[in-house]
Amino acid sequence: MKNKVKYRSAPGVDVEVFLADAAEEFKISHVGIIEIIQNFHREMERGLGREESTLKMLPSFAGRPSGKETGDFLAIDLGGTNLRVLCISLEGNGRYSLKAAERFVIPPALMGGQGAALFDYIADCLKASVERNKINACIFQELAFTFSFPVEQLSISSGKLIQWTKGFTVAGVEGNDVVQLIAEALKRKGLEFIHVAALTNDTASTLAAGCYGDPACDMGVILGTGTNACYLERIARIRERPELTDWRGEMIVNTEWGNFDAGCDNRFDRMLDGASLNPKKQHFEKMVSGMYLGELARLVIVEMVEKGLLFEGINPAVFSVAYSLTTEQMAKTKEAMAFLNDFSMHDVSAADRRCVSEVFRIVSERSARLASAGIAAVVSWMDADIELLHTIAIDGSLFQKYPGYQACMRTLLSELYGERANRISFVPVSDGSGIGAAVVAAVADASHTSSSPLRVAPDKVFYRCDTE
Ligand code: BGC
Repeated sequence: MKNKVKYRSAPGVDVEVFLADAAEEFKISHVGIIEIIQNFHREMERGLGREESTLKMLPSFAGRPSGKETGDFLAIDLGGTNLRVLCISLEGNGRYSLKAAERFVIPPALMGGQGAALFDYIADCLKASVERNKINACIFQELAFTFSFPVEQLSISSGKLIQWTKGFTVAGVEGNDVVQLIAEALKRKGLEFIHVAALTNDTASTLAAGCYGDPACDMGVILGTGTNACYLERIARIRERPELTDWRGEMIVNTEWGNFDAGCDNRFDRMLDGASLNPKKQHFEKMVSGMYLGELARLVIVEMVEKGLLFEGINPAVFSVAYSLTTEQMAKTKEAMAFLNDFSMHDVSAADRRCVSEVFRIVSERSARLASAGIAAVVSWMDADIELLHTIAIDGSLFQKYPGYQACMRTLLSELYGERANRISFVPVSDGSGIGAAVVAAVADASHTSSSPLRVAPDKVFYRCDTE
């Protein structure tokens, strides 16, 4: 910590006062939560009628799965920094078996490169995975594509990317049909016999995976690198969509709540937003999701250092770099602060560790309360007095791994609904986006396969049909 600017604490500025003020800035009162829910409902209403809204309310062209779906599917899931490739056999009655499940890291250069390079990489990963796992190409020809970005779907198997989120800026994809882009990449790799049976958002896949095992499931939520939610909406409430004229009953609607403006941003949120790749977009995501919590905490910590309130006024290099503090580090080190050692900060006092811990609490608790307010808004939209049972299928590392996060979400529901909060259950759905995409594809495939010609895999690709 030598040769660094040393900040002195300004007269009268006290650590406890600063932390209390910061807690106040990140706090959302009960009244504030109610207002957020009311505002959310107004935006839902507008989005469902295709009026201007911060909630896109995108129809998915997928109805409620019955749980009886069967079939063999390849699934790819492009979520954030990872690509998942799965090979799934749905056995009906909520049962399935995974023949393969692999994770690939998206090279950072591809997240900002050209569309063809990204889709070629996805096709390469799919090919490598099925070859390695000796997947029978005669059986697994239907592909379910979970694409975790806002897409205006044109049908169950086509849709145009509206805009990238989560740090992606790949050229030549926005405004284009991502199914066509993956189909072209598959063709370039000699995999043209693979048919994209369904395109889904990760929330829709998570909901479908939830429904597959539990008919009371009516909402899917992602709390991970990004955040979003979908739910089952009555077709009659979705307006100005002539393409849905033939639909009856319910359809999964993707809210794209990451873009919701909760109207309670503070100066740290505004700093983060201003320096982001997508200013003035994805407000809710920037307050809630794993991609941003570390950065929000870092901004608070840097201000404390600059006021001479932390680390003896010396800003360690690691905290000077945007996004150097990750939400994963916050989650793993809530108590022990071991990440400070990772950053070669071995001599941090107990008092400073407590301050950092308090900053993490303030930032993560707001995230959990907002996420839970979003769930309350969607559930109360479906069922104003919470008279029915609702199962919420949830996936994402923030929900699954951040200590205390789920408890904080539950506390908010109890504050809002008392005993009735017990009618809302959170069900963690790991791998939901892969399995659920297969479930959605199975529903779509039932109508598709009867008329489609048999596609034959070339001998050289994957595993020969007659060798299984
Ligand atoms: C995307 C959503 C996605 C969510 C979670 C957001 O950035 O806009 O489509 O569901 O991340 O992955």
